[in-house]
Amino acid sequence: MNWDELRAECLKCRRCGLCETRTNVVFGDGVQTASVMFVGEGPGENEDLTGLPFVGRGGQLLTDMLKIIDLDRSKNYYIANIVKCRPPQNRDPSRLEEEACIDWLRQQIELVSPKLIVCLGRIAATVLIDPDFKITKDHGKFFSKDGITYTAIYHPAALLRDPRRRPETFEDLKAIQAEIRRLCPETYAE
Ligand code: URA
Repeated sequence: MNWDELRAECLKCRRCGLCETRTNVVFGDGVQTASVMFVGEGPGENEDLTGLPFVGRGGQLLTDMLKIIDLDRSKNYYIANIVKCRPPQNRDPSRLEEEACIDWLRQQIELVSPKLIVCLGRIAATVLIDPDFKITKDHGKFFSKDGITYTAIYHPAALLRDPRRRPETFEDLKAIQAEIRRLCPETYAE
């Protein structure tokens, strides 16, 4: 499937019960040919209302943090979620919902063909990196799988709840910037 076909199919998805309560499917946003991809867990209220990922308070924090390492959604990264529809009351997505939805993300990853995937928070990291991933212990580490480098940072909502985690996240972001310069310097070409 090409991008237009994939998006059109995804927007019609009824593979799990989240389709009953969603306002919009939150497919993904950013540069479809980027070498760097960010993956969150699932849409919150603002994302459900707009159809765009990471546009609420946490999203704004993420956007601001990524600016510091010269990443801009309109220029050099793609961003999507593990589940494309909002879990009611912002609960964690269930294993069944993740499994029903993951094929959309797998196809997005195939089309983007990124060199680096940054998981935002524990849930994305347990799905994409390792089911036993511990965000407090394993954030900022780099893993190689099927020709793609993976890492994870704290979810922006966790940084809003607990600002003491921000300094270590800035260290992780500096390491991500260095890894981008090494793996895919085209990301920073003007
Ligand atoms: N949290 C996420 O994990 N994804 C979003 O798109 C918004 C908030």
